[in-house]
Order: sequence, then structure tokens, then C-alpha cells
Amino acid sequence: MVKRTAILISGSGSNMVRLVRDMTGDHPARPVLVLSNVPGAGGLAKAEALGVPTAVVDHRPFGTDRAAFEAALRAKLDAARPDIICLAGFMRILTAEFIAAHAGRMLNIHPSLLPKYRGLNTHARALEAGDAQHGCTVHEVTAELDGGKILGQARVPVLPGDDAAALAARVQAAEHRLYPAVLRRFSAGDRRPLNIG
Ligand code: GAR
Repeated sequence: MVKRTAILISGSGSNMVRLVRDMTGDHPARPVLVLSNVPGAGGLAKAEALGVPTAVVDHRPFGTDRAAFEAALRAKLDAARPDIICLAGFMRILTAEFIAAHAGRMLNIHPSLLPKYRGLNTHARALEAGDAQHGCTVHEVTAELDGGKILGQARVPVLPGDDAAALAARVQAAEHRLYPAVLRRFSAGDRRPLNIG
């Protein structure tokens, strides 16, 4: 049975594009929805161009009412009946209730070698710490921020002269290799951590 996969984005959707492009042929999953909390997010047009249905739930009218925002999000998500949900640059923190409703089938890509640098500004923090290596992690989403089971990591070197933008670009190229590889394994039922790079 093909795994119906929804992808949640907030921005340019470059990871989403890599996931969608990989979900062909003998891949066990297929994209059924790209959902954004940001109207006009660059990834929406890319998803449409790839023939994937899109939806938007703007978080702003909900203010601090996270439960109401997530109810609207779930209405769109549930209509697509996803087996797997991939967060790909989705920049809203989800409540424990939302996460519990999708336990074991929601993935996220985070731009650091977790457990290092949960949260934001990961590239600047790796530079500040003088790390020789940096990278990205795909993990299961649990109520602990950036804390779920690690499904895969890709490493990149930190090079002399790097600033946060240069390092971010190198990490993002690694994200584009890692996330499709992890989703392919995960959707086939393989949750063993994958290490590349
Ligand atoms: C990615 O680099 C991803 O690691 C990061 O947002 C970017 C989205 O880019 N996610 C986080 O920081 C999550 N805390 P994209 O829209 O081009 O895929």
C-alpha cells in the first residue's frame, strides 16, 4: 500500500521539492498535499508546478490561539488522509496534542547535528562554538522540541572563512540528499538511523 505523504512548509520549499521528485517509481510513498502556514510561500508555486495539491492555513488570524490554528490545519490535513507527515521548513511550533495525534508518522528536518543546537540560528551557533563539523538531522517529531528519535544525519565540514550564509548553503545541499533518503527508508518501514556525508 502506497504511503500517502503530506509535506508542511513555511518558505521556499527546496526540501519539499526534493521529497516530491523522489516519490516516483518504486518509492513506497506518494505526495498528496503540500500545506503552508504562509500565504504566498515560494514552495506553494513549486508544488503546484509539480502537480501536487496545495493548501494554506494562515496562522496570523488565529493570533495566540494555537488550538484553533491547529484545528484548521488538521481539517486540511485530515482531508488528504496522510500516512506520513513531513515537516520541511515548517516554522511553527506544534502543540503536544497535535503531535500526539500523529505520533510515529511525523518527520522533521533540522539544520544541525542534533542533539546539538535545537531551535533557531543553528549555523551561527556552530560557528561561534568553533565546531569542525556541522550538518542536519531528520528525526521523528515528539513533544520535545527537536528531540525525537534520530532517523538520519548528514555531516558537512566547517571551512575557514565560513559565515552563517555559506555554512547554511552547504548544510542545505546535505539536507537535499538526506531527507529523500530517509523518507524512502521510513516509508518502507525502516527506522534505523542513516548516516551520510
Ligand atoms: C531548511 O534548511 C530546514 O532545515 C530549516 O528550514 C529550511 C527550509 O528550507 N528548518 C528549520 O530550521 C526547522 N527548525 P526550504 O523551505 O528551502 O526547504
